[in-house]
Amino acid sequence: MGKPNKKRRKYMIIHGPNLNLLGRREPEIFGTMTLSDINDKLMEFAGQENIDLEIIQSNSEGIIIDALHKAMNDIDGVVINPGAYSHYSLAILDAVQACGRPVIEVHLSNIYSREEFRRRSVIAPVCRGQITGLGWYGYILALQALAKK
Ligand code: DQA
Repeated sequence: MGKPNKKRRKYMIIHGPNLNLLGRREPEIFGTMTLSDINDKLMEFAGQENIDLEIIQSNSEGIIIDALHKAMNDIDGVVINPGAYSHYSLAILDAVQACGRPVIEVHLSNIYSREEFRRRSVIAPVCRGQITGLGWYGYILALQALAKK
C-alpha cells in the first residue's frame, strides 16, 4: 500500500527517432536490447517505486513536441532521448522550455566520444540535466533524479 496523502507521481519517457530500431541498429554502439526490453525495465522500476510512467516513441519532431505540451497538464517530469534532434531541433528546445516541467536528457551512447556533430546538444541548456553513455540504465538514473525530491 502506498503512503497516504502522497500523490502518486507520474513521469513521461520520450524516445525519439530511430530508437524503435534498437536491437538491430548499430549493436556495437547501442547494444542488443530492443526498445521493448528497455521499456520493460522502466515499467518494472516504476512498479517498484510506485510511480506512473507514460512511454512514447516517435520518429516525428511534431509528435515529440505535442507530447511535451501534453506533459504540461498532468506529468511531474520528463525523460527524453531526442536522438539526432538533440543536435539541431530548436523547436524541441522551445517545447522543453515551454512545458515548465523538469526534463532530463538521456543518450544511450556517449555523445562526447562520437562524431563532432553529436558533441553539441541544443536542448541540454534548458534541461535539468543530461545523462550520456550509460545505456538503458541512464533512463533509470534520470527517473531516480526526478523522483528524488
Ligand atoms: C542518441 C545519440 C544521437 O546522436 C543519435 O542521433 C541517436 C541516439 C543516443 O541515445 O545515444 O539517435 O540519442
